[in-house]
Amino acid sequence: MDDLKNKYLTAIADAADENALEELRVQAVGKKGEVSLKMRELGKMTPEERQVAGPALNALKDEINSALAAKKAGLADAALDERLRTECLDVTLPARTERRGTIHPISQVTEEVTAIFADMGFAVAEGPQLESDWFNFDALNIPGHHPARAEMDTFYTHRAEGDERPPHVLRTHTSPVQIRSMQAQGAPIRVIAPGRVYRADYDQTHTPMFHQVEGLAIDKDISMANLKWVLEEFVKAFFEVDDVELRFRASHFPFTEPSAEVDIRCSWEGGTVKVGEGDDWLEVLGSGMVHPKVLEAANIDPNEYQGFAFGVGIDRIAMLKYGIPDLRAFFDSDLRWLRHYGFSALDVPTLHGGLSW
Ligand code: PHE
Repeated sequence: MDDLKNKYLTAIADAADENALEELRVQAVGKKGEVSLKMRELGKMTPEERQVAGPALNALKDEINSALAAKKAGLADAALDERLRTECLDVTLPARTERRGTIHPISQVTEEVTAIFADMGFAVAEGPQLESDWFNFDALNIPGHHPARAEMDTFYTHRAEGDERPPHVLRTHTSPVQIRSMQAQGAPIRVIAPGRVYRADYDQTHTPMFHQVEGLAIDKDISMANLKWVLEEFVKAFFEVDDVELRFRASHFPFTEPSAEVDIRCSWEGGTVKVGEGDDWLEVLGSGMVHPKVLEAANIDPNEYQGFAFGVGIDRIAMLKYGIPDLRAFFDSDLRWLRHYGFSALDVPTLHGGLSW
């Protein structure tokens, strides 16, 4: 009986799966199993023998049955663990390429612009959207009485009554980041500063919040020629063509001298905008040589250093490049618009891999 017990308990412990276990059950305690056959022999025994063998056989049968049950439960647990291990969802895996969400054209274009200027050695700088009027205006050679303050349709914050300090403003351009980055880094410096800006204006090509990217390059031997080359390289790379027509127009900004505005030839025929053809010009950027007073405000000696600055309308060039006719739709959060104009989250714009798909 001990031999039987050892044989089955060992076999049960070693059983690899439920099939092996069932076979063992049949072999041991099934109708024609070894233990059952032994039980049938009880009838041939003397009553004394039966008294000993009967309970012992019953105990053996119970022991084998409970070993079978325990092993069965163990196998089921192991199978469940294995399923959990192989069927689990790894949330750190990259998203599927099915387009669930998309990258907004503004984010896409900001990435494209950043990739192009990074290739020309420009680092990315940042500044606050709620800005002091000193950074937004005074330091940029726009004193209190200057008409540019009114022209820009500035949003001012409220001061508590009796607070004489000038109010903060929602920055009207990214130019205050010129001052902040020159103060922080000194010269020489080469940065771009993309971000949100605000002006009270609303029509097909204006929204109260929009985006600019500021450019700034200061060194000892920088001229207007460098500005023109950088802008031409940028426009060609951005529109991914060789024949974009640029128009440099003499202009005026308080913080640059001389100043130039740059327009891109385009057409608005049929309500959609096309670059490089037509009789219209879309103003996309302001630029010029940084005014000596601006350098001084940022603690840079204008006798030693000079350079150029520019400010590009990100929304404008996004409309031009991707043929989007109305700026206001950019910020409506209409899912149909976002799906139509959005970009795949997995396609990061690079100069070598391609800017846009
Ligand atoms: N800040 C100007 C604007 O918002 C653009 C600009 C930037 C012009 C830098 C010249 C130099 O229109």
